[in-house]
Amino acid sequence: MAFKPGQLTGMVRQKMLKYLSLTLIQFFLIIIAQASQSETLGLGRVATENEIKAWDIDIRPDGTGLPIGSGSVLSGEEIYSENCANCHGDFGEGIDRWPELAGGFDTLNSEDPVKTIGSYWPYLSTVWDYVHRAMPFGNAQSLTDDDVYSITAYLLYLNDLVDEDFELSDKNFASISLPNQTHFFLDNRNVLENKLFVERCMKECKPETKITKRAVVLDVTPDTTTEKLAIEEEVQKEPTELDAQLVKDGEKVFKKCKACHKIGVDAKHGTGPHLNNIYGRIAGSLQDYKKYSKNIKSAGENGLIWNLETLSSFIENPKIYLKGTKMNFKGIKKSSDINALLEYIKATASLEN
Ligand code: HEC
Ligand code: HEC
Repeated sequence: MAFKPGQLTGMVRQKMLKYLSLTLIQFFLIIIAQASQSETLGLGRVATENEIKAWDIDIRPDGTGLPIGSGSVLSGEEIYSENCANCHGDFGEGIDRWPELAGGFDTLNSEDPVKTIGSYWPYLSTVWDYVHRAMPFGNAQSLTDDDVYSITAYLLYLNDLVDEDFELSDKNFASISLPNQTHFFLDNRNVLENKLFVERCMKECKPETKITKRAVVLDVTPDTTTEKLAIEEEVQKEPTELDAQLVKDGEKVFKKCKACHKIGVDAKHGTGPHLNNIYGRIAGSLQDYKKYSKNIKSAGENGLIWNLETLSSFIENPKIYLKGTKMNFKGIKKSSDINALLEYIKATASLEN
């Protein structure tokens, strides 16, 4: 807390006193807690110096934590091509979808920024630390410290930041700065943004939240109805548990689908595929329905399976939930209608075709 003593108003002073007394209480609580902890439970042991050393490998932006060592661009090229190039490419261009490690300058404020060590990362220490800690992928921490210096030097070279005769060491490490460093700054919301939002609503702010879009297939949007649906899904296994009134209501709603979809005994395909056994069906997977769009088939190949949740989102807004299908239907907005429809489908769709 950066208070200037001369500027303390009465309010602030009061708050400070409150704060201080709270801190004192916390202080005593900690002492008490420690006292009771010292009556040991006889569990565990003190970590050895070597254990701590093996774990404490982080490198700070100023180079603190670096081991003594060095490595050149030239030796780095060799080590890199043996250990890294098959994923990241000979020149850091990235093979297939593996990350790019070089280039991307002048792309950061474009629509499609290429964030590499050279274009984006603020500190060289992160490069050293990350390569040392996590790479090569699948064989992490197999490199010696000098290997990591060499590779880091080579990565600088790939990003046009040093010449080919450059050698990196713990001595000259702190003298290297990356181009984008100055564009990172300390979080200043405290001074800038807080002023803009004087009164914040912290609870019961909006009467209801409406979900307008869902992440397709992945189901990453938490949904308050999910739990309910999961329970309904359990119930689904017990056909006797159907709600007769809901089924009846749902039959009426199904009229909206009827022009294109048949359901029940001997249902045939129409404009759309029949909906028997729809729960558990992979989207776009019925072999004898020939009119599927490419999009619904590929959604199925990517893992979309019809269950209470996916079906309900689809019916609510087919065009938004699944782009580019041939189902020309604007959706059902009322969730009570959707629930009834789902119940009707549940009751009918389980019939064998
Ligand atoms: C088997 C493939 C593979 C190999 C080999 C490999 N990497 Fe990686 N590398 C990856 C993957 C995957 C990631 C992304 C990991 C993540 O995001 O969790 C990555 C991330 C990185 C990153 C961070 C990139 C960024 O911008 O976030 C660096 C730096 C890196 N690797 C360097 C190396 C170096 C140096 C080597 C050789 C010593 C190496 N990698 C070997 C697959 C590989
Ligand atoms: C105007 C015709 C039409 C209407 C109305 C319609 N659908 Fe469809 N539906 C289709 C077509 C066509 C497809 C195939 C989509 C594709 O391949 O892109 C389809 C696909 C589906 C699928 C995916 C089936 C599968 O095998 O993957 C489901 C589920 C579905 N509709 C349910 C419904 C429900 C429930 C309703 C009523 C609320 C409804 N549809 C209304 C034409 C329609």
